Amino acid sequence: MTSAMSTIAFDRIPRERLPALLAEMPKAELHIHIEGSLEPELIFALARRNGVALPYPSVVALRAAYAFTDLQSFLDIYYAGASVLLKEPDFFDMAWAYLQRAAADNVLHTEIFFDPQTHTARGVDIGTVIKGLDHACHRAHQELRVSAKLILCFLRHLSEEDAMATLEAALPYRHHFIGVGLDSSERGHPPEKFARVFDRARAAGLHVVAHAGEEGPPEYIRSALDVLEVERIDHGVRAVEDPSLMQRLAAMGMPLTVCPLSNVKLCVYKTMAEHQLPALLAAGLKVTVNSDDPAYFGGYINQNFAETFAALPQLGAREAYTLARNSFEASFADAGAKSHWINQLDLAFEEAGTAQ
Ligand code: ADE
Ligand code: ZN
Repeated sequence: MTSAMSTIAFDRIPRERLPALLAEMPKAELHIHIEGSLEPELIFALARRNGVALPYPSVVALRAAYAFTDLQSFLDIYYAGASVLLKEPDFFDMAWAYLQRAAADNVLHTEIFFDPQTHTARGVDIGTVIKGLDHACHRAHQELRVSAKLILCFLRHLSEEDAMATLEAALPYRHHFIGVGLDSSERGHPPEKFARVFDRARAAGLHVVAHAGEEGPPEYIRSALDVLEVERIDHGVRAVEDPSLMQRLAAMGMPLTVCPLSNVKLCVYKTMAEHQLPALLAAGLKVTVNSDDPAYFGGYINQNFAETFAALPQLGAREAYTLARNSFEASFADAGAKSHWINQLDLAFEEAGTAQ
């Protein structure tokens, strides 16, 4: 425990104060797919702008289709939604809309996933994707005071050769992204399928993360650690099925970027009350809360905090602080930025513990 944490009067923060504190507290977001922030209204606006035909007649009809039974049922609609993105301003507009929402939720730092293969497969140049997103990140820093970085994700349902070609095509833009990740259909596509491309990414000095243990088994978390040598596990909730893996993750201080609303919407858990986030925290894992695909799963990061804490009474002010602090510690920001943000977090909680 750090000195600041031991001086915060968590027990003096009234339960009624918690919803506002969750919203106000400074935080980082480490698991957000930018294509998953495309709201139906923007999908339709971009479709009109680009002359793209959509298989849904209206915003209402599209939203009505957001009733998912598993990861694949979501991904099918998510990739259809992304088909409206063609030009650099489209990627800018999408990311700028998300960054404004993030700023409103008191996100000080965000590490944003993007899926270049979803776009290059439709003939969009990878530079168009990266430059549009990068422009929004720069503007967010200047105008919103939000620090925003990009992480390039490989689609695991495609081949490793395709991932390798994508990485090579992205390397001329190396200064615009900080790492690589692995997403899309998990089952049947284990991390070891991408061993060489992750070796190449690490050799290029990129950070490495991977989705594992969302729908896939705990063994996928083990191979993400052992074969891909990841620095964070995205989701990782199925670790609870494997006590020795839980111990290992806790001992390593390995961050887990958990996405509670996503897990409920994709039927990993039937209800939020069944979510295993409290068990992960109680076992000493470095858990963070994130939105994954906020336009599809019912809300941005603050909505995730609000619904998780409302459904799980074992979570209080101490856990709120820990989750926010973990988000900064688990980020790829430099040590100076992290301690600056954590000081702001400490102030918010010290104030909450002294206010009448
Ligand atoms: N791509 C976008 N969201 C995802 C998720 N929750 N899991 C895997 N791939 C994704
Ligand atoms: Zn994800």
